[in-house]
Amino acid sequence: MGRLRKDQFHLLLIKTHSLTGLIPVGAFLVFHLAANSLRTVGVWQYKLSIDLINNLPFLIWIEIIFIYIPILFHSLVGVYLSFQGKLNVHRYNYGRNWMYTLQRLSGGVIFAFLVYHMGTTVVPKLLAGKEQFEAAPFLISVMNQEFQTLGGRVIYMVGIMAATFHFANGLWGFCMSWGILVGAAAQRNASLIFILFGLVLTVIGFATVVEFSMNPIEVQATVPESF
Ligand code: HEM
Repeated sequence: MGRLRKDQFHLLLIKTHSLTGLIPVGAFLVFHLAANSLRTVGVWQYKLSIDLINNLPFLIWIEIIFIYIPILFHSLVGVYLSFQGKLNVHRYNYGRNWMYTLQRLSGGVIFAFLVYHMGTTVVPKLLAGKEQFEAAPFLISVMNQEFQTLGGRVIYMVGIMAATFHFANGLWGFCMSWGILVGAAAQRNASLIFILFGLVLTVIGFATVVEFSMNPIEVQATVPESF
């Protein structure tokens, strides 16, 4: 097989960038916001979800392979393609160009938010050696503190809005890249569905912020010997 030509390479980057935005990065976002929203049901239910995740075998490898590498790939290729001006091929009208600008802007906001968010959750958890059942009390205490200040709440609300907008608008881009939406009516209807989907995700995220802010309840680690 000969070497990929430059335009074929670009096309491959556009397709893989678009695909990774949906799976696994977008899927992770939906799962993550849904899992955290368990806090609105009860602190016990929320603790159970953290216990479950933090007792998975090979957790760090699962996170590296399915979360960290895809997010890094999607971010770096996104920056590269926007400098090449290759991402904008499907956006013709004024409104869509605006969405394209907002898409890049929200990508930058998400990246900054993630540096902060992981720097205050996963990194301290790993540094403190809090694994398995010890992770939940540690992380819940961290989140309680995060939402004690107005600044913390604003950071999370901005991060959530940037992520849900980026994903919902990205879904439209995905459909265009893969030739799924043909015709003006299909594109208009899909836009409405994606807007609704983004709003639902935002409400789920905001409800979690409100619950943490109003009821900062601490928990004890489950003692495995008690089973
Ligand atoms: C209400 C909002 C949110 C809450 C309460 C929250 C909570 C958490 C917690 C507790 C962790 C540590 C998980 C662990 O180590 O077991 C975490 C990790 C993480 N969060 Fe969030 N998060 C929120 C919003 C977001 C948003 C909007 C994004 C994406 C932009 C995001 C992306 C991540 C990533 C990539 C990780 C590291 C992967 C992982 O350990 O699961 N989070 N979050």
